[in-house]
Amino acid sequence: MSILLTGGAGFIGSHTAVEMINAGYDVIIADDLSNSSEKVIDRIEIITGVKPKFYKVDVSVKEDVRRIFEENNIEGVIHFAGYKCVPESTKVPLKYYRNNIDTTLTVLEVMEENDCNAFVFSSSATVYGDKNQVPFREDMPTGGTTNAYGSTKLMIENILKDVAAANSKFSAVLLRYFNPIGAHPSGLIGEAPDGIPNNLMPYITQTAIGIRECLNVFGTDYNTPDGTGVRDFIHVVDLAKGHVAAIKYATEHTGAEAINLGTGNGSSVLEVVHAFEKASGVKIPVVFKDRRPGDVEYSYACVDKAERLLNWKAQYDLNDMCRDSWNWQEKNPKGYE
Ligand code: WQD
Repeated sequence: MSILLTGGAGFIGSHTAVEMINAGYDVIIADDLSNSSEKVIDRIEIITGVKPKFYKVDVSVKEDVRRIFEENNIEGVIHFAGYKCVPESTKVPLKYYRNNIDTTLTVLEVMEENDCNAFVFSSSATVYGDKNQVPFREDMPTGGTTNAYGSTKLMIENILKDVAAANSKFSAVLLRYFNPIGAHPSGLIGEAPDGIPNNLMPYITQTAIGIRECLNVFGTDYNTPDGTGVRDFIHVVDLAKGHVAAIKYATEHTGAEAINLGTGNGSSVLEVVHAFEKASGVKIPVVFKDRRPGDVEYSYACVDKAERLLNWKAQYDLNDMCRDSWNWQEKNPKGYE
């Protein structure tokens, strides 16, 4: 069965490509390489022994997406393509709305033309906003997103629910990711942020390797055991396996389902720093700063629905995530450069 991965050269897309190939799927990757490297395609081949078919295209260009569907028998789409930098999205919101919504609409229109009805979407725990109590459950109200990036995720979830309501053959799984970290244990693929990282783990690994001087810890006065923010960190390989289960589900069901992909456990920023120090043997200098605007105190998932519908559960723990993040950083100090 051929599955199209838009944005399949990115951090989560590349790990999903590996797990999809391992599960026996034919993987087709479409990526404009705006925030990724073509080297990823070769690395996927080294890991799996299979080179995925690759199209360097912007999936908001309808003719290019049509060509992919004409040349392949695509039975489902996992849609990763999109901009994801939260602070940038607050500065240039139109860039985020234009790209993230346009790419999704174009892919959905071409799917409809081709009677392709299984869709898996990269959504985010950010759709739970700042009003809900942890653990976040899929039936809680969404909204109250604090940046344009998060708002595009919410808008796309609503678009998919409308499409599923109108087309009885259509199936959408809205995967709400918590905080993906780690890397493939081979150290061949991993997260390669462009410029100064915004997210915690790449900032920690770049500090450990000497690219950054110290880690800024944003907020020490949260109502949490050690005062720092609590997140549900999940190994990207576990997350990737969640997509394999989700596309299978989407091809066997109809309708729209939101499903959390997390571990169900919360770890504080300082717990992550200490776990990383233990796994790597490298001390991370930290500087305590004020809270970062838009951050919530606690975020972690209720994972019952993923277990029930997808028969999927995260396997890796925080120590595994730190070890694999560090292995990737050490083997690739400058990412894919
Ligand atoms: C985690 C914790 C920070 C960096 C975001 C998006 C989400 C998803 C993942 C992206 C917070 C603290 C961070 C640093 C720190 N999307 N921190 N120093 O904000 O939970 O989620 O990224 O692609 O939609 O919102 O993740 O890793 O940025 O932060 O102290 O240098 O680490 O304040 O408490 P977040 P994060």
